[in-house]
Amino acid sequence: MTAIGKTPPLLEVEELNVTFPTPHGAVDVVRDLGFTLEPGGSLGIVGESGSGKSMTSLAIMGLLPPRATMSGRVRLAGRELSGLTDRQLRRVRGDRIAMVFQDPLSSLNPYYTVGAQIEEAYRAHRQRVTRRQARRVAVEAMERVHIADAARRVDHYPHQFSGGMRQRVMIAMALCTEPDLLIADEPTTALDVTVQAQILRLLTEVRQETGAGLVLITHDLAVVSEMTEEVLVMRAGACVERASAERLFSDPRHPYTRALLDAVPRLDDEVGELRTVRGRGPSPAAGATEGDER
Ligand SMILES: Nc1ncnc2c1ncn2[C@@H]1O[C@H](COP(=O)(O)OP(=O)(O)OP(=O)(O)O)[C@@H](O)[C@H]1O
Ligand SMILES: [Mg+2]
Repeated sequence: MTAIGKTPPLLEVEELNVTFPTPHGAVDVVRDLGFTLEPGGSLGIVGESGSGKSMTSLAIMGLLPPRATMSGRVRLAGRELSGLTDRQLRRVRGDRIAMVFQDPLSSLNPYYTVGAQIEEAYRAHRQRVTRRQARRVAVEAMERVHIADAARRVDHYPHQFSGGMRQRVMIAMALCTEPDLLIADEPTTALDVTVQAQILRLLTEVRQETGAGLVLITHDLAVVSEMTEEVLVMRAGACVERASAERLFSDPRHPYTRALLDAVPRLDDEVGELRTVRGRGPSPAAGATEGDER
């Protein structure tokens, strides 16, 4: 029970651990991670490849690969998700959380029209919906993400859309269930720069319209600086720094955050040369250690 008049956080993650068995012993790919997101808030999770960003989001969604084990607590609007049955979990997730992935082509079924897939996503979470209603919702969702000629495009197949348009379809699909929380895992990484900007603008617009919270996963610090209020920096499965986006950029405290910031191409770099983080991050098996920036 929550106190009267007090809205619980939208998402609370406490002491989250995700472990994979390997021939060399168990590997912790997420370690003691904790954060809170208020309703309508936004959090960016950044870190280099392999730092555990996707495993964190999959753990929240209850979609970890079967071999992974997880411990810790995930609460959505005050409700503990870890004790729920699969069926209840599917329900809560589908009703309240939606996910957008990096590669829309692999998330869409090539054999069905995009409309059929949006309709299915909608019907999965609503009882007694007629085909006509579902189709209307699909067309409206496509209009909301600015797909021109939505009434006709709804009958097209995924391969008839460009990468950016497919990502719009995925966002339409996420939106049609009216989620309280949108988790976007590298939603623009597969897209070229101008299309990236359009999709990010669309995500912002959608948030403003729906009031949904956002967890945005990216390796791109420039993206989080524009898109989220708070940023959590992950390395080797653990949080090394968490701060408002503003503070993180003006006063990064952890050496790893500073190294990541140095790796961001600046507009004043003549050829936009990318300074990469020196050295490779430690493997999760080696543990999260500080100070290996030489
Ligand atoms: N099925 C698996 N078995 C064992 N280890 C795995 C498995 N899937 C992922 N991992 C490991 O978990 C760690 C975290 O992976 P994760 O996908 O969360 O990284 P990420 O931060 O999302 O990286 P990227 O930016 O490349 O998407 C990685 O070291 C990865 O090798
Ligand atoms: Mg990932």
